Amino acid sequence: MALEISKILAPVADPVEEVHGFRYWDGRSILGFVDGTENPEQYERAFYGLIGEADPAYKGGSYLFVQKYIHDLKAFKALPLDQQEKVFGRYRESDVEMPDGVKPANSHSALANVGDDLKVIRDNMPFGNMSTNEMGTYFIAYASTFDTVNKMLKNMFVGSPAGNYDRLLDFSTAETGSLFFVPTLEMLDAMSQGSFEINTVSKDVTEGNKDNKDSNHQIISDPIQELSSLGIGSLKS
Ligand code: HEM
Repeated sequence: MALEISKILAPVADPVEEVHGFRYWDGRSILGFVDGTENPEQYERAFYGLIGEADPAYKGGSYLFVQKYIHDLKAFKALPLDQQEKVFGRYRESDVEMPDGVKPANSHSALANVGDDLKVIRDNMPFGNMSTNEMGTYFIAYASTFDTVNKMLKNMFVGSPAGNYDRLLDFSTAETGSLFFVPTLEMLDAMSQGSFEINTVSKDVTEGNKDNKDSNHQIISDPIQELSSLGIGSLKS
């Protein structure tokens, strides 16, 4: 399949890297903790993962954000189990979230959770290469709006409050960061027939619609520029 896709993309793209991810025991990340537990389920997946009514021209598409993280597995595994659990704010064996008051403010689950109505669909893949000793997580998330991902990244990297950054980053280095628009099949058909018109999106930030389930799309002014200023992965300018 990779060969077939490469053939189609060959005239417009050069492959620069190939990383093989795998599914690990119980859907755990290579750090040993179950990854994906708090993902939205059932009808909520489409609500949080696909562009909604607020942007009809792109409805049904999705914003896909991927980042390649390399883990310092040796340093993480050297931590006693209770310290590893504090990195995530969850217990490793049971995958149960730590209660308030026990969960550290700099844990991954404390900082990545930016609100009950602001979610993304995560589909991370662990990867490992024994010959290069590269062990990591390919962070993969689909969202109805990039604004939500941006908020999560700011919380993790800048911290909340600023300086209280995500402890997971002490063991994880973001090497890349790319934002893609994923079109629907209908959009792809229209593009192949040359009939898809890309509307110039306004710089409208439709804040205040977070409680409105019919209007789940927000446009942020310049997401890549904002991320570059966070110095995340290859987005560093
Ligand atoms: C360094 C790579 C990463 C690893 C290994 C990782 C792993 C995990 C794990 C094990 C959990 C707890 C279980 C779960 O709910 O899935 C979790 C939660 C979560 N992660 Fe990550 N993650 C990574 C990066 C990120 C990034 C970059 C974001 C956002 C841009 C993110 C967003 C989230 C969110 C939203 C949750 C759920 C928080 C909650 O509501 O409790 N993660 N992650």
